[in-house]
Amino acid sequence: MDIVLIKNGFVVDPMTNTKKKLDILIENGKITKIEENIKPFPSAKLIDATDCIVSPSFVDIHVHFRDPGQTYKEDIYTGSLAAVAGGYTTVVCMPNTQPALDEPSLIRYVIEKGEEVGLCRVLPAAAITKGRKGKELTEMALLKDAGAVYFTDDGSPVENSHIMRVAMEYAGSLGSFVADHCEDLNLSKDGVANEGEISASLGLPPLPPEAEDVMVARDCILALNTGMPVHICHVSTKTAVETIVWAKALGAHVTAEVTPHHLYLTDEEWLDFSCNAKVSPPLRTHEDIEALRWALASGIIDFIATDHAPHAHHEKLLEHQHCPPGMIGLQFALPITLELVRKDYFDIKRAIEVLSTKPAEKIGLKPPSISVGEEAEITIFNPSEEWEVNEESIKSKSKNTPLLNRKLIGKVKYTFYKGKIVYEDK
Ligand code: DOR
Ligand code: ZN
Ligand code: ZN
Repeated sequence: MDIVLIKNGFVVDPMTNTKKKLDILIENGKITKIEENIKPFPSAKLIDATDCIVSPSFVDIHVHFRDPGQTYKEDIYTGSLAAVAGGYTTVVCMPNTQPALDEPSLIRYVIEKGEEVGLCRVLPAAAITKGRKGKELTEMALLKDAGAVYFTDDGSPVENSHIMRVAMEYAGSLGSFVADHCEDLNLSKDGVANEGEISASLGLPPLPPEAEDVMVARDCILALNTGMPVHICHVSTKTAVETIVWAKALGAHVTAEVTPHHLYLTDEEWLDFSCNAKVSPPLRTHEDIEALRWALASGIIDFIATDHAPHAHHEKLLEHQHCPPGMIGLQFALPITLELVRKDYFDIKRAIEVLSTKPAEKIGLKPPSISVGEEAEITIFNPSEEWEVNEESIKSKSKNTPLLNRKLIGKVKYTFYKGKIVYEDK
C-alpha cells in the first residue's frame, strides 16, 4: 500500500470551511483520515508541512499551451510541468493553436495528449468561430460532446455583435458558455502600451482602455438581453469593473476573471523598453490595479485565471510593434495572490477560493476538496518562502515575463494529482 502522511500543515479549504492545523493521511491516493494529530508510522511517507498551508489544488481556466502547431513556445508536457509547479492540477487550454481548436478531433487530441502526460487535467476550450475568423460558428454541440469545456476565440474578440449574440444563445442552450477577449480592434489598432503618461513619455503607440471597455459593455448588454451567460476574460480596467458591477446588479449572467499580471504590474514595466511588458490587454495603471483587487475581494471578479501565454525568446526580442503579446503566469498566481492577502485585500480562504473553488465551479468541475474519501488533489505551499524567478525556477518552455530576476514570496512545495505527488520542490 502507498501511504503518505502530511503532518503539521495548516489546512485551508473553502469547500469544507476549514482553517485549521490538521494532519492528513492518504492511502493509495485516497484521503482516509484528517485529524489534529496522526502519529507517524514506518510504512507512511512523511511530509512535514510545518509553516505550510495545505489546500485543494488550483484550477486555471485560461492557459495557452500552443499545442498543436507552436510547440517551440510550449507543449502539453512543459505546460503541465509549469502548471503543477504553480500548484495547479486542472488547466483549460485556449483554442488559438495552429490549427485552431475548431473540430472535435482537435479537442480530443488535447485531452488525449494531456492524459498521456498525466501530470494534471488538461481540458480544451473550443473556438466560437471556424478558424477563429469571426465569421461562421463552429459546431458547438459536437465540440462539447468531444470534451470542450467552453467556447472562446481568445487571442481575438468576436467582433460581430450578431455572431456573439447567437454564440451566447447557442452555447448557453447547450449548458455551456462563451468567454470573450474583449477588445474593439478599431480602437486598439496598432496600440502597444496602455494609453497614458507612460505611453506618451516613451513614445509607444497608445492602446486606449476604451478598446476593452466598450466590448465588455456590449457583452454585458447581450448577456442581459439574451439571459445567457458570458464570461469576460482578463478584466484589466476600472471602467470594465464598474460595468460588470452594473451588469451583475441588473441580473446579467456575467462572470469575470483577472490575471496575476493585471493584479500586480503596471505600464511602468515598459520603462526598460523590454517587450516582456507587452500583453493583451495591456498592463494598466495603479488606479486600475486597485479597482481589480477590490473587485476580486468583493466577488465582482469571480476568480483568477493566469492567461499563461508563452512566447519564444527570439519573438520577444522583436520591435514592440511586431513582438507577440503575452506573458507566462502559472507559477506566479499563488505568490501574487498571497501578496494581496498580506496587504489585507482579502483573507487566505478567499485566496484559495479564487484559485481553486470558483474556477472549478465555473467549468462544472467538482471543486477539489480535502475531505475523507476524496482522491488527494492537494497543493502544499510555504506562504513566506522567498524565491527568485529565473531561467531555472521557471518550468515553462518560455521565460517571457517582466518578473524575470525578481523575487516573489510564496512557494509551492508539493502538488498531488489523482492521489499522487506530481510535483515536489527540491
Ligand atoms: O497577451 C495575450 N496573449 N493575449 C491574448 O489574448 C492572446 C495571448 C497569446 O495567445 O499569446
Ligand atoms: Zn485574451
Ligand atoms: Zn488568453
